[in-house]
Amino acid sequence: MSETQTGALSGPLYEAQGETIGAIVFFSSASENTARFVDSCHFQDEGINVYRIPLRPKDPALNVREPYVLIVPTYGGGSAHKAVPTQVKQFLNDPGNREYIRGVIASGNSNFGEGYCIAGDIISAKCKVPFMYRFELMGTPEDQTAVRQGLLDFFSKARQPVGDGV
Ligand SMILES: Cc1cc2nc3c(=O)[nH]c(=O)nc-3n(C[C@H](O)[C@H](O)[C@H](O)COP(=O)(O)O)c2cc1C
Repeated sequence: MSETQTGALSGPLYEAQGETIGAIVFFSSASENTARFVDSCHFQDEGINVYRIPLRPKDPALNVREPYVLIVPTYGGGSAHKAVPTQVKQFLNDPGNREYIRGVIASGNSNFGEGYCIAGDIISAKCKVPFMYRFELMGTPEDQTAVRQGLLDFFSKARQPVGDGV
């Protein structure tokens, strides 16, 4: 097996500036709503590496080996069975990638009613991580602020040592 097949580490789409505090991994289809949300958040300026799950099967697989929060759009037209995009399922089916997920943020369209953002519920239950936030389509400026601040708090707490060390 070549190095690529066994899972060479992937580089981030946007590399954290300064000290790295954590990472996000996102998927976005051809409509690019989630990609626009992620771009507008400028996570890399806060010390957060940004990785993108590839859209096409021919693209090299993404292999992430640092703690990350997943940002995922919901698909499936209200059917829970298809709500998580195939590319995201494939990414999480790799035990190496799955080991580092720490939380999930989902997007969707509220027209889907009870199916709104259910990809977040499904991944949260399967991977046993918190469903941290949901937003509609490409999000609002309020969503951007909430997610940026939420991730900063989350990754800062995750890096604090347990106990006071005395
Ligand atoms: C075929 C299709 C099915 C969808 N199914 C759902 C759904 O079940 N629940 C939901 O909340 N949003 C659903 N959406 C809305 C998408 O999650 C939303 O448009 C999202 O912003 C797409 O992100 P992307 O452009 O980054 O791929 C669906 C959209 C499409 C095109």
